[in-house]
Amino acid sequence: MASNAPIGVFDSGVGGLSVLREIRALLPNESLLYVADSGHVPYGEKSPEFIRERCRVLAAFLLAQGAKALVLACNTATVAGVAELRELYPQLPLVGMEPAVKPAAAATKSGVVGVLATTGTLKSAKFAALLDRFATDVRVITQPCPGLVELIEAGDLNSPALHSLLQGYIEPLLSAGCDTIILGCTHYPFLKPLLAQMLPPSIILIDTGAAVARQLKRLLGERDLLAIGEPEPAQFWTSGDLCHLRNILPTLWKHPGVVRSFGS
Ligand code: DGL
Repeated sequence: MASNAPIGVFDSGVGGLSVLREIRALLPNESLLYVADSGHVPYGEKSPEFIRERCRVLAAFLLAQGAKALVLACNTATVAGVAELRELYPQLPLVGMEPAVKPAAAATKSGVVGVLATTGTLKSAKFAALLDRFATDVRVITQPCPGLVELIEAGDLNSPALHSLLQGYIEPLLSAGCDTIILGCTHYPFLKPLLAQMLPPSIILIDTGAAVARQLKRLLGERDLLAIGEPEPAQFWTSGDLCHLRNILPTLWKHPGVVRSFGS
């Protein structure tokens, strides 16, 4: 595999662009491929079997485009599908993501940590194992957030409807005394500006995008696969509405990019 081959990234929709931004910032020489599976969003309420099948399809597509590494820029897809992808592609540099329980447990002063994530992530055995491992000394309040992803997918980052939905999700965390909130879904970092208005300034928000980019850099470096020179413009595919992605992409991604339909 050539070191200037692209990196393939996917998510249930546009959420993974919050991770793609971190990858671009840390690895500016890398060419990037991104699939938004917006035709099947949200994953959060779907069965693990369905999500695993989507993971297989999207991974195979990105590898057929020549990807040298894959990033599952989706917590929900990771809990359902990363183990199977690792079995299918044992040699491939592959990075999944999980809610940042360990850094949140280290950061909290009140000893109470909140987790905003999808129902699928919070219900998973992988998340339970994460809590068993890293959250023994803190109290963790989990909050599923149905409806949030759909609004973000629609390009809504600041409407009254979004504000009131979000208010209902953060209130129980604040009443429980959380001083640290994990954004456990890759769509939610796009709500940081709104959350900064809604939350007391002392609250720490933690997401995993930058850590994923660092892990990717480490894996590529170990295999001598870090690109040098100018990258190709990023390439995007969506299984949802092509015009819609073209319209909202400039708000979420500030670099050049080509957008196409992903047909299955
Ligand atoms: N962005 C995804 C995540 O990180 C899932 C959103 C969804 O499709 O429900 O969990």
